[in-house]
Amino acid sequence: MPAAGPSPATLNDRFAIPGLLFEAGAGGLTRAVIDTPVAGGEVYLHGAHVAAWRPAGHKPVLWMSTRSQFELGKPIRGGVPICFPWFGAHPVEPSAPAHGLARTHFWNVEAVSRLDDGGVGVELRAAIGRYRLSYGIRFSHELEMTLTIERNLSATPVRFEAALHTYFTVGDVRKIRIEGLEKTGFIDKVDNLQRKGPTGQAITITGETDRVYCGTRQACRLVDPVLGRAISIRKAGSDTTVVWNPWIEKSARMADFGDEEWTGMVCIETANAADHAVDLQPGQVSCMKAVIGVERL
Ligand code: BG6
Repeated sequence: MPAAGPSPATLNDRFAIPGLLFEAGAGGLTRAVIDTPVAGGEVYLHGAHVAAWRPAGHKPVLWMSTRSQFELGKPIRGGVPICFPWFGAHPVEPSAPAHGLARTHFWNVEAVSRLDDGGVGVELRAAIGRYRLSYGIRFSHELEMTLTIERNLSATPVRFEAALHTYFTVGDVRKIRIEGLEKTGFIDKVDNLQRKGPTGQAITITGETDRVYCGTRQACRLVDPVLGRAISIRKAGSDTTVVWNPWIEKSARMADFGDEEWTGMVCIETANAADHAVDLQPGQVSCMKAVIGVERL
């Protein structure tokens, strides 16, 4: 079982600043709670899991399942799980956990800082298998998440996949539109992994959707007429974008996902996966960043 880490009191002695405190969160798992005039938020050390972000003047942007487990060894459902070092099923080992090890690993706090714009920055670190990772999160008017796979110190290249598997709250998934992937082909995971060409149109969700868009550095825009807002997802160091909604039957099959909850969420994931797995050469560093913004329509 992964370690639970230092107590919130110990972390507060060392790291608490105005606008950020550690506490025992759901299931007793330690989280940092961010509460500043520009943004509120939460990040669990279990999985370095960002579970909330609410920029001032807006409703919460990230979706969390009311059925999520908060337990060592189990992933949290919602927010921003980190998928690493593989995405989806393990390529050869069927018993290995889906989406890798990072989302159930304990991450250490490296630093906490007050940002110039009034937000808060948190830096976490973990050693996972042969990899050393750092994860910088800036909770502010925008949410910025930067996953760094540190220098490959071995003499051989290493291959990994990664995703910032971001769950967004939407008013009604059947009424949203996702712009930015009109010109990009995708692997359709709900249609036998068929490769499909660009549709030339914004994405609308009309059934179970599980698409790995390959070879895109484009920003996406999630337009939500019901909540009257548009969410932008800009990225760097990422060549893949994944769009996921489980719809009716798959939601019913997932124990940590409410049967009706699929209407209120969609995932737009900043990733390097499938065709764009990363081959990290000796001496190289890899960095992937997602920046989330929100505007009223
Ligand atoms: C998506 C995958 O990224 O994550 C889907 O493309 C998967 O295939 C979904 O169902 C949720 O995965 P998990 O392991 O969190 O249930």
